[in-house]
Amino acid sequence: MNRFSGLVLLVVLAAAACSSEAATPGALVTGRRIYGDVCSACHGSAGDGGVGPALATVTATWPSCADQVTWISIGSEGWRAGFGDTYGATDKPVLGGMPGHADRFTPEEIASVAAFERVTYGGADEAQTLAECGLPTG
Ligand code: HEC
Repeated sequence: MNRFSGLVLLVVLAAAACSSEAATPGALVTGRRIYGDVCSACHGSAGDGGVGPALATVTATWPSCADQVTWISIGSEGWRAGFGDTYGATDKPVLGGMPGHADRFTPEEIASVAAFERVTYGGADEAQTLAECGLPTG
């Protein structure tokens, strides 16, 4: 190996190291796992809907990540009992069928899956969403 190809190799290795550091933040990895394990059965493997609504407009329904976290935690029946017959900023009718998940996941895990939905299906900015949802950006 001459000096030039050695240098090229170093640059390639350095670039590979940097790109792995810029990988998906841990909270979104957690969110993706939970979504795939639990939520996708009703909301579709690409957030395109099924028994539950499609998630492309999730940030219009929930401008606040905290409210979305509450919804995921308590589900349709908990929401109806606590807040009434409509949900979200767009006043969608509570039709039922969304289970509460507070008994199954920690608040941070629920915030992670909310952030995953906002970024991946709602097209929200990644860093801003993690901050809004109170999650680490790394
Ligand atoms: C058993 C089916 C089912 C599962 C599992 C489920 N959901 Fe839902 N989800 C629904 C239904 C049905 C609605 C609409 C509820 C209503 O009208 O009362 C809904 C609504 C929602 C909404 C509101 C979307 C909007 O814009 O109206 C969000 C966000 C959501 N679910 C997130 C999740 C997350 C996150 C998970 C996994 C942790 C999950 N859901 C698991 C059925 C499900």
